[in-house]
Amino acid sequence: MTDYLERFKELSKVVTTDNYSDYYKEIVDLTNYDEAKVPAYSLPSALDVLPGKKVKTATDWMNWGRPAVFKMLQKEMYGKVVPRPDHLSFELLSCKHGALDGTAIRKEIRVHCGMRNGRCFKFDILFYAPLSALEKPVPAFVGLNFKGNEATTEENDVRMTSPKANGRYRDTENGVDESQRGVQVERWCFKELVARGFASATVCYEEIFPDRRDGWENSALTLFVDGLKGFKGAHEDYTSIGVWSWGLSRMMDYMETEPLVDATRVGVHGHSRLGKTALWAGACDQRFCAVFSNCSGCGGASLARRKFGETYLFIDNVMPHWFTKSLHKYNGCEETMPFDQHWLIALAAPRKVSVASATEDLWADPKGEFLAAKGAEEIYRLFGSKGLPAEEPPVPGIYLDGDINYHCRIGKHNQLLFDWDHYMQILQP
Ligand code: GCU
Repeated sequence: MTDYLERFKELSKVVTTDNYSDYYKEIVDLTNYDEAKVPAYSLPSALDVLPGKKVKTATDWMNWGRPAVFKMLQKEMYGKVVPRPDHLSFELLSCKHGALDGTAIRKEIRVHCGMRNGRCFKFDILFYAPLSALEKPVPAFVGLNFKGNEATTEENDVRMTSPKANGRYRDTENGVDESQRGVQVERWCFKELVARGFASATVCYEEIFPDRRDGWENSALTLFVDGLKGFKGAHEDYTSIGVWSWGLSRMMDYMETEPLVDATRVGVHGHSRLGKTALWAGACDQRFCAVFSNCSGCGGASLARRKFGETYLFIDNVMPHWFTKSLHKYNGCEETMPFDQHWLIALAAPRKVSVASATEDLWADPKGEFLAAKGAEEIYRLFGSKGLPAEEPPVPGIYLDGDINYHCRIGKHNQLLFDWDHYMQILQP
């Protein structure tokens, strides 16, 4: 039973970013999808984050428990919090009343970030709100997209922001490659959201940090950090997930200025690597009133100790810029981590948090995602909350509602209307 674990440990010692391709197939083949092979483990309690001192109350948690957990996760995984730029301004590029078949107001907003040292950086938000927002500000979802703003909507006059369209990162006004237009409409469900009274805003994550191991020098981090030129792979202090989270916070800055939005009711969401990012953004920025993790898996909502589905060994080598270098030491020995992913989910407390899995997404370990959500309950209880109202993973297709929410959609790795229906129910005022 431990054979595969032993091999994993051996591999962790020999695999490097440079020789990774030689081992890729073996690592993928070695991935455990057998519940019987999940090693026995016990979960560290976030109440014990500081030795010799137990978190006993919500006040303890907010005053010193949470800051200690937050500090540990910055160092071990997600990197330092990237600051707000010295100057931030929002340029309205377009505004269309009657978008989405006459149901919505659509805006495109360019976010300009500037530093006193003269450096600058910009990216574009696509924003939809229902017409009802003209009468009364509405709740809103904020999330990053994978393939450009044009991929999220069927409206073909939306500016292209995918790197593919622009042939490079940022700065290009007119894209040339239309291939991404409308390809992820079903993941964004703008029409359905607007019909139910929600606003929604998105930015292409590649505009914030190109998702490549050498994406550093074209990322928003260039505003703040020198010497990233030629940098590849994992960094001691910063991560792409940290920089993407920074982008979500800047979107929140915009939401605070947007008269159509009730800024006290903005939820952050994300799918897959962007679900990992949404959880971290919710941890970093408590202005988000709710946090939605969709199929976020390894390094997101699922427990590393289970060694089921994707592991850090894979991420550290294929996408080494996602996490800090210090995570490498846990490859193959996740049981030695002083924390696990339930601590990340607990950082959302006492706000609403939602974890969603999909039955066919074993790579993201649906059971591990449920158990991590459940593990965050110890912190929610400090606030008098019942947390997640179930002891076992629910039947697929059922919504579990509490301050911690969970569902497992029947189907593949994606974020679809079934997921959105739950998220809208949670964010409903
Ligand atoms: C890969 C990666 C996952 C990630 C996913 C995604 O599968 O291994 O960790 O969640 O991509 O972002 O689509």
